[in-house]
Amino acid sequence: MPATVIVGAQWGDEGKGKIVDLLAQESDVVCRYQGGPNAGHTVIAGGETFKFRLLPSGIISGKVSVLGAGCVVDPEVLIGEMDELEARGVSVEPLRISGNAHLIMPWHVAIDQASERRLGPLQIGTTRRGVGPAYADKAARIGIRVQDLLDAKILRQKIDVALAEKNLWLERIYGAEPFELDDVAGRYERYAQRLRPHVADTSLLVDRALRAGQRVLLEGAQGTLLDLDHGTYPFVTSSNPTAGAAATGTGIGPNRIDEVLGVAKAYVTRVGAGPFPSEMEEPFASRVRELGAEYGTVTGRERRPGWLDLVALRYAVRVNGITSLAVTKLDVLSEFDELPICVRYRLPDGNETPDFPAHQSDFHHAEPVYEVLRGWAEPIDAAEGPADLPEAARAYVEFVERELEVEISLVGTGAPRESVVAR
Ligand code: IMP
Repeated sequence: MPATVIVGAQWGDEGKGKIVDLLAQESDVVCRYQGGPNAGHTVIAGGETFKFRLLPSGIISGKVSVLGAGCVVDPEVLIGEMDELEARGVSVEPLRISGNAHLIMPWHVAIDQASERRLGPLQIGTTRRGVGPAYADKAARIGIRVQDLLDAKILRQKIDVALAEKNLWLERIYGAEPFELDDVAGRYERYAQRLRPHVADTSLLVDRALRAGQRVLLEGAQGTLLDLDHGTYPFVTSSNPTAGAAATGTGIGPNRIDEVLGVAKAYVTRVGAGPFPSEMEEPFASRVRELGAEYGTVTGRERRPGWLDLVALRYAVRVNGITSLAVTKLDVLSEFDELPICVRYRLPDGNETPDFPAHQSDFHHAEPVYEVLRGWAEPIDAAEGPADLPEAARAYVEFVERELEVEISLVGTGAPRESVVAR
């Protein structure tokens, strides 16, 4: 280990929270490097279910938990999560927030909602939490950062400058309500008082931890195909979930990263709009949604299930440099007699390819080419080691391993922390 990246290898919701929680037991620092309250990580530990949108999953194990510079922070959401955890007896003292992370302001949320409404049938299907507009302001260099919370005067000034423009947009372009300076400044000053003790130089903190030989887990949110540069644009999020961004989003050099653990479900899901070649038909889609509880953690939306797509997964291995893979939720497939796996795409020109298409039109029109594997038709959640898995389940895992030429180190066999088979 010292620095291991955990990255979603599909469209998010791969069950990263559980794998991070598992590896956090042996780590000293857990750092989220991108994304904001659009993420939804569920961890089941000691019979209790925890759902996080912003907090790094390591917080329930008492580890130093960092929100890195690449994150966008909605203080209201964050404080809500901190309060809830404290009420459940979990300390949030080890939380550290990068001063360089950007703040989600109320106008970001309002613009995200209004702009999706305006797009109508062309909408992206965002989580409407203000994430895209906050990253847009960061890139336009008019964002407000976590370190602005350290000085009430600066904070008020920046809110004043921002509102002069944002209110115009809200009222004139979107026909939405404007915001009042006193109201926003007052709210954010209250948030500031709560968050100030947690603001830190997290780049330095992680560097020192690595120098001291400590183990650092860099936790990605969303997934490879939602990456702003390498995902299925424009149906993507506004940050870079891929592993390269772990260095930038944390503030360490890329040569400090030793391992990249990809997390993929034994099938695929996607929330929101966008093309999806291996999308399941009914009745399979509804059954998988039910068995796998495939509803968004943040929005409660139905996720769209698909058969495992090795073309997309091979791409994830490439763009992240995945060194090993965790396959989650294998148990959800236990009920099916036959399991199609997409091994190639058939492109509009009739050619078949194992590689993810570089051109959007090829991807939009790609037809999946399946190999059908045998199901195992028995529960697997009691398996304690690889030998306890039915032969067909082992064959499924080994098939994926062979096709991708990457070791599968962990297999998820049920929701609780304990239901993981290490191979
Ligand atoms: P945004 O990140 O809210 O701007 O949403 C952009 C796209 O990313 C939409 O398709 C969302 O459904 C998707 N998305 C964002 N966060 C997650 C996540 O944590 N899991 C799955 N999809 C996500």
